[in-house]
Amino acid sequence: MLRKLKKFVYKYLTPTSIRQHHFASYDDYVKAQLETHERKHERVWVQDSELELLAGVIKQEVKQPKFGLCHGVRNGAEVRTLRELLNCEVIGTEISPQAASFEHVIQWDFHKVKPEWIGKCDFVYSNSLDHSFDPEMCLKGWMSCLSPRGRCLIHWSKNHDHVDFGKNGSDCFQGSRKAYTALMEKLGVIDNVIETGIEGQRCIFVCHAKAQTMSKAA
Ligand SMILES: C[S@@+](CC[C@H](N)C(=O)[O-])C[C@H]1O[C@@H](n2cnc3c(N)ncnc32)[C@H](O)[C@@H]1O
Repeated sequence: MLRKLKKFVYKYLTPTSIRQHHFASYDDYVKAQLETHERKHERVWVQDSELELLAGVIKQEVKQPKFGLCHGVRNGAEVRTLRELLNCEVIGTEISPQAASFEHVIQWDFHKVKPEWIGKCDFVYSNSLDHSFDPEMCLKGWMSCLSPRGRCLIHWSKNHDHVDFGKNGSDCFQGSRKAYTALMEKLGVIDNVIETGIEGQRCIFVCHAKAQTMSKAA
């Protein structure tokens, strides 16, 4: 009953429909992410059909991509598939040390940007923004990595719009599709929104960076 009431308030009465779980410290954030990773490390969230759609959009928008980043890749499924479909260099980030077990996946917190990525990525894809402790800062960093023709592709689903934050708070950013749209529009320009499942339940935002979000190096 309380959950239903919370859901109603969240969905219909909260103007921005954004909810953020705050950890006591960065160490607590990492601990929660690692615990969840441990429980789910064999699962793959993104579907092959969605990656085929994604690769099609990248080919269309960027023509011949050379380098892309995927953030929060768990066991690297999207990295492997996109490397094959696009025939280009793709690196995945994963906060868990298990990253080292997968080719082309590095252990890295996606809130941070490597200097060599700035202005160099033809695409940045993630379905893990819901694990961010600061989604705006995170997205700003991802946008700064885009090459002039690069695209940021953010996967949203109804599961990113819960009233709670998962067992230990690891799904710490929850937002409605409207909230994601507002966030994308704040930092970038939405070129397209691809429906990848039942209409309104799963979609990929395709964006390019606003001039002020692009790197000076690009
Ligand atoms: C929802 S899962 C997505 C898995 C994968 N993309 C898929 O489609 O199967 C989120 C992943 O992001 C990782 N993660 C969470 N916070 C992260 C961070 N700050 N930096 C990098 N990876 C992170 C988690 O460990 C987890 O593997």
